[in-house]
Amino acid sequence: MIKKTIETNVSIYSFDELPESYKKLIDKAKEQVNKAYAPYSEFRVGAAIELENGEIFAASNQENSAYPSGLCAERVAMFYANAQHPNVAVKTIAIAAFANGKFMAEPVTPCGSCRQVLLETEIRFEKKINILLYGTKHVFQIEDVKQLLPLCFEKSSLNG
Ligand code: THU
Repeated sequence: MIKKTIETNVSIYSFDELPESYKKLIDKAKEQVNKAYAPYSEFRVGAAIELENGEIFAASNQENSAYPSGLCAERVAMFYANAQHPNVAVKTIAIAAFANGKFMAEPVTPCGSCRQVLLETEIRFEKKINILLYGTKHVFQIEDVKQLLPLCFEKSSLNG
């Protein structure tokens, strides 16, 4: 029997020490929480995606009275960006969440379904996606989606 430990690398910053380009993308994600449609959870999430060509696509979570029909901000933004630019890789995604009248102190990390969708885009374009998770106390920076989804199921898994 062999035991293996899998590590996830996370760089933890305060907002002020981030490079300007990261601050700008996080600000776009933060703006989006105002556009969230979250009457059921009242948990507002914004996501902003920067493509390799410099374009930015931002979106928010969209809920539904039939709860599972709603979609997280990350997936709305990613599908939106990929639909508009099927041949342009994604460089960075920033995510921010707002509840009870304030942004979360610690970052919110994407749900499992969003991780799987982000992974698909990373593999599709063979380009690591940089992930920025905003919290007022800490900002997490993660260098690719595989860090968030170890032992993942992906395109190559279909071939055994
Ligand atoms: N949500 C997101 O949009 N992104 C996340 O990373 C976590 C959860 C949304 C889904 C739902 O509308 C609300 O937040 C509560 O789960």
